Amino acid sequence: MGYSAPRGTVDILPGQSEKWIKLEQLLRTIAANYNVKEMRTPIFEHAELFNRAVGDTSDVVSKEMYTFQDKKGRYISLRPEGTAGIARAYVENKMYGLPEKLQKVYYMGPMFRYERPQNGRQRQFHQFGVEMLGVESPYVDVECMLMAVTVVEALGLQNVTLHINSLGDDESRDAYREALKNHFRGHLDELCGDCKARFEKNPLRILDCKVDAKHPAMKTAPKTIDYLSESAKEHFNKVCSLLDDLEIDYVIDTNLVRGLDYYSHTVFEIISDDPKLGAGATVGGGGRYNGLIEEIGGPATPGVGFAFGMERLLLALDDEEDGLDCYIMPLGEEAKDLAMQIIAMLRANGFTCEMDHVSRGLKGQFKSADRFNAHFSIILGEEEVKNEVVNIKCNHDKEQEVVPLENILAHIENHLNGGHEHE
Ligand code: HAM
Repeated sequence: MGYSAPRGTVDILPGQSEKWIKLEQLLRTIAANYNVKEMRTPIFEHAELFNRAVGDTSDVVSKEMYTFQDKKGRYISLRPEGTAGIARAYVENKMYGLPEKLQKVYYMGPMFRYERPQNGRQRQFHQFGVEMLGVESPYVDVECMLMAVTVVEALGLQNVTLHINSLGDDESRDAYREALKNHFRGHLDELCGDCKARFEKNPLRILDCKVDAKHPAMKTAPKTIDYLSESAKEHFNKVCSLLDDLEIDYVIDTNLVRGLDYYSHTVFEIISDDPKLGAGATVGGGGRYNGLIEEIGGPATPGVGFAFGMERLLLALDDEEDGLDCYIMPLGEEAKDLAMQIIAMLRANGFTCEMDHVSRGLKGQFKSADRFNAHFSIILGEEEVKNEVVNIKCNHDKEQEVVPLENILAHIENHLNGGHEHE
């Protein structure tokens, strides 16, 4: 009997891992550009942290967490998202006391949710997330959104839209919660069991119920935006006017409430209609969470952030693979010894190289050079070894030249930089 990977997990094999590295490098470059530093937190945390931070009325916590008891009977959860761990570490490491009030961090790594696997939805998936902690300012909200937009633009994702909404402050949410209760009270009998519980504990969650999504009362439900306090309205208006000034397109989506409980004020999602992802796919989302740090025992500290699903970002990256610089093709045992010398020299000079290790003929080796998309094939048989030369073929312009051993490096460099311009 063989083993298979657990349902909802995937192996990232050579061929795909290069795309991951490319994506990670791009994200790190954008992070540096925004002066956002990397932070790494554990992949598992005390379950209680997520119950508190993400909220036990959210689906993520109530239905999708991987929680188990360790050998000492402690309840441990694999992280379903990154914000709670960052918030915990921020408090534990007293980062609120750092001289720079605004702390901007990013993370990349695996997250775990027990969901029904489908296209773009896995049980182990990866997020790139950003958190900006310490300052309550619409400028910081917009910096977050701008960074998220920069990511999708850098990846060339087509047909993306920034959806935004405001959930307001505590005062706004209390008023909104009451309005929602009044609205749904008459329909309680028609809603699912979960929604009945949500009605008491957190009526906002009713709005993203998957079971009752089509119930007519959903469409006519009151909108958060109509219940904003004066100061929450002011914050949201400033966010909108800053986005306008920066000429960032967005739509105000009054149905956007997000699936996690810690949000207040601005929430946003990046939704793509890129054919590679399927219509209406959410590639990333986030928002402000001014109550979270206090909720988990820290001093009152505002925060805002977002996370992208990296699998979804990857679908957008083109499939073009980077090729090798050189494929070395020895013909015969003696040639192999020399090939080993040449490959070591080229690698030491920074070129990406491979050589034939299975003593094939010319045809088989050319096939490999092709598969590796090698820029140069370096061919050496008995004759070349005797004459201390190699044959260098540029696979782009098909030119082939006999080059003395001591000139290999110069020849390749000259070809790459000099008169032989390639695409
Ligand atoms: P989220 O909306 O739960 O937010 O997840 C963010 C993104 O992770 C989603 O838009 C989606 O692309 C991806 N994602 C979620 N679940 C899966 C899955 N099962 N398979 C593949 N991709 C998935 C958060 O997690 C918040 N922590 C974001 C945030 C940061 N808010 C403030 N700061």
